Amino acid sequence: MQHMTTAQIRQAFLDYFATQQHQIVPSSSLIPGNDATLLFNNAGMVQFKDVFLGAESRPYTRATSSQRCVRAGGKHNDLENVGYTARHHTFFEMLGNFSFGDYFKQEAITFAWQFLTDVVKLPKEKLLVTVYHTDEEAYDFWSKEIGLSDDKIIRIDTTDNFWSMGDTGPCGPCSEIFYDHGEHIWGGPPGSPEEDGDRFIEIWNLVFMQYNRHADGSMEPLPKQSVDTGMGLERIAAILQGVHSNYEIDLFQGLIKAAAVVTNAKDLEDKSLRVVADHIRSCAFLVSDGVMPSNEGRGYVLRRIIRRAVRHGNKLGASGAFFYKLVAALIEQMGEAYPELAKQQAIIEKVLRIEEEQFGKTLERGLAILEESLASIEGDVIPGELVFKLYDTYGFPADLTADVARERFMTIDERGFQECMEVQRKKAQQAGKFGADYNEQLKSEKSTDFKGYDTEHYTGTVIELFFEGQAVNVLEDGQEGIVVLDRTPFYAESGGQVGDSGTLTVTGGEFTVVDTRKLGNAFAHHGTVQGRIGINDKADAQIDSERRERIKKNHTGTHILHEALRQLLGDHVAQKGSLVMPDKLRFDFSHFEGVTKTQLRELEDAVNAEIRSNFALDTQLMDIDDAKAKGAMALFGEKYDDEVRVVSIGDYSIELCGGTHVQRTGDIGLFKIVSEGGIAAGVRRIEAVTGEDAIAYVAQQEQQLAEIAVLVKGDSHNALEKVSALLEKAKGLEKQVSQLNDKLASAAGASLLDSAVDVNGIKLLVANVAGTESKALRGMVDDLKNKMGSGVIALGVANGDKVSLISGVTKDLIGKLKAGELVNHMAAQVGGKGGGRPDMAQAGGSEPQNLDAALASVNAWVAEKTQ
Ligand code: ALA
Repeated sequence: MQHMTTAQIRQAFLDYFATQQHQIVPSSSLIPGNDATLLFNNAGMVQFKDVFLGAESRPYTRATSSQRCVRAGGKHNDLENVGYTARHHTFFEMLGNFSFGDYFKQEAITFAWQFLTDVVKLPKEKLLVTVYHTDEEAYDFWSKEIGLSDDKIIRIDTTDNFWSMGDTGPCGPCSEIFYDHGEHIWGGPPGSPEEDGDRFIEIWNLVFMQYNRHADGSMEPLPKQSVDTGMGLERIAAILQGVHSNYEIDLFQGLIKAAAVVTNAKDLEDKSLRVVADHIRSCAFLVSDGVMPSNEGRGYVLRRIIRRAVRHGNKLGASGAFFYKLVAALIEQMGEAYPELAKQQAIIEKVLRIEEEQFGKTLERGLAILEESLASIEGDVIPGELVFKLYDTYGFPADLTADVARERFMTIDERGFQECMEVQRKKAQQAGKFGADYNEQLKSEKSTDFKGYDTEHYTGTVIELFFEGQAVNVLEDGQEGIVVLDRTPFYAESGGQVGDSGTLTVTGGEFTVVDTRKLGNAFAHHGTVQGRIGINDKADAQIDSERRERIKKNHTGTHILHEALRQLLGDHVAQKGSLVMPDKLRFDFSHFEGVTKTQLRELEDAVNAEIRSNFALDTQLMDIDDAKAKGAMALFGEKYDDEVRVVSIGDYSIELCGGTHVQRTGDIGLFKIVSEGGIAAGVRRIEAVTGEDAIAYVAQQEQQLAEIAVLVKGDSHNALEKVSALLEKAKGLEKQVSQLNDKLASAAGASLLDSAVDVNGIKLLVANVAGTESKALRGMVDDLKNKMGSGVIALGVANGDKVSLISGVTKDLIGKLKAGELVNHMAAQVGGKGGGRPDMAQAGGSEPQNLDAALASVNAWVAEKTQ
């Protein structure tokens, strides 16, 4: 066995397979580019999924990679185990070799065996394998060719030995290779009751890809038998570095030490350090791949991982934001293999820091709400619904609620909480099915040739008609339905651009198109017919040109805005959504904070400058790889054909886009941003108008200014000055009002003094100060104390269904009476709890009808205490 660093192992693996004619392919993004059913890239094979299915071809049939993977959320989820076992991670690297219809079982086994025993020289006697229970071929090969004895080949008939990427997609039986870490560690071989122990660790999974699984569970053979393998880099590193836990390898030791520094942790063995070291990897890579913390989907998983890291950091003793500081340590460990990390260091740090700080506030808010709720709880158990609400709405972890409960000698209703969680889990499962079932929708086998890039008018033939979801031969007068033409100038909604409207004229009637959408490859014109329209009719198709012109301006405007945003705010800006309508454009993008007024101004100026440059738009069809090589912006998660349409605006912007655009940027005329705001954490939305709509917008703003000027008796030049002066004046008046209010309260206090009575030689003042604002009570008590010199005060007031109570005790008397006890005595009678200093305490309550009785009871209470 050879001692090797993690980086050396990664390289040795790729080198070995390269010498076996495998193409080295770089790791793909954690956000699967070709599959909306998958939350994160969770295995090396994901980027090759379509190659296995036969839907995509590559210039090679053998490949190898070291793929970054995240298993948190979704089908393969390890989050809760992380930190507590030797080998689970949210983020890990998977070394893999792949055959696309090239070699199959025997070579896959031979390569794996050779790499393990020849290249990195693992002792053969430490290895054992599993095979799928019915896979005689694999069994025989391990036994006869490799020479493993029967006790080293274990047949497994559970799903553990049948791998699939998700609920659907390529899958097949596996043969897994295990390493025996030795008798001194507890655990049993695979298939035994002790298999969950850490002694026998799976290091390499060889999957013999044979089927494509469909949503209904049926399995269809793949076009060609293939191979997909995955070896956990961290696991093999642990073996080669002579350690048992992945957390003891070089890479993790570096991260754990850095985590100990930023959290002030003393004990390097603390499990929480492992959690933090693991989580910085997934979080940093997710942000670098474009995920932003949010409340749904991928962003929500990221948020949960960050929060888990922060909680463990706090447990270790961190004060203030610490997690983001680990990005530098991560770059030290992994920056060479993943240069994109260093490039994005500043942005990753910023996103993590902002999220950490927000979570700090959430915790504070949760605590305040918990305090408030505790006041009204009867008994000593915090109900499960409350624990759940705190968790679900305020992100307040249940174990922290339990901690607070413990301090008050209370407990939490764990079962009730779990029940609420279960209900939510079920809901999430139902809602969380990524992707839609397209079989439910209308289908068309036809295809339409789009003519609308160059023309707004074209004669096509009716090739399909639908009425109430059924194919028909004719649409009769007044019927609302769908018309499919063989050729059309109507743009069907896609890429954010809405569909065209207009008319289809046939000999016997006219079909008014209100919208156009895609139905597979067919363009479906939605609308209503006057007269009749039938199959094979020649249809004179005319789009609403004026509407299309406005759409074009907004679409080109969107491209310019996209590029201007990237230039102004940075490369992390990625399109998250786009809607191009006739009257405005809407663009959603990832960015972690609001865009300032100055930035918005700069953006608008940048876009308008490009418009004035009057660039000609250029569209070309090209190979997807050429387009990417030219730097065309493509969207994450979007699937593109081999041939794509590329829209360039001078040298300024180049994007993959199927939409319609103006001929020259000058056609847009003017671009105005009308709003900017956040729509989810880390996602901003800009709405803007162009052309005549932008001019109308400016005119409307001018009109408003003119009306304001009239109101303040000025003109558009001095309106600002006049409004500022008015505001200044209003502020002065508010101050005066508040001073007068104070005077009134103090006068009321003076007359209150007359009602003070003597109880055992102590001056006691009790009053219902109806009409006083609860905010004014403290000032009033201070004032009364001054005036009384020595005495005890108890005041109460009811506002609606809320009661506010306050008590004050002058310093000389606090040895005898405590304001906190006095206020609690009253509060208990009006359904509340309170607290405060011995000389001044406040409380709330919810039973105004009992206020007077509570106040009346004070006299006797003081008498008793001061006997
Ligand atoms: N795709 C296989 C796995 O993840 C190799 O285990």
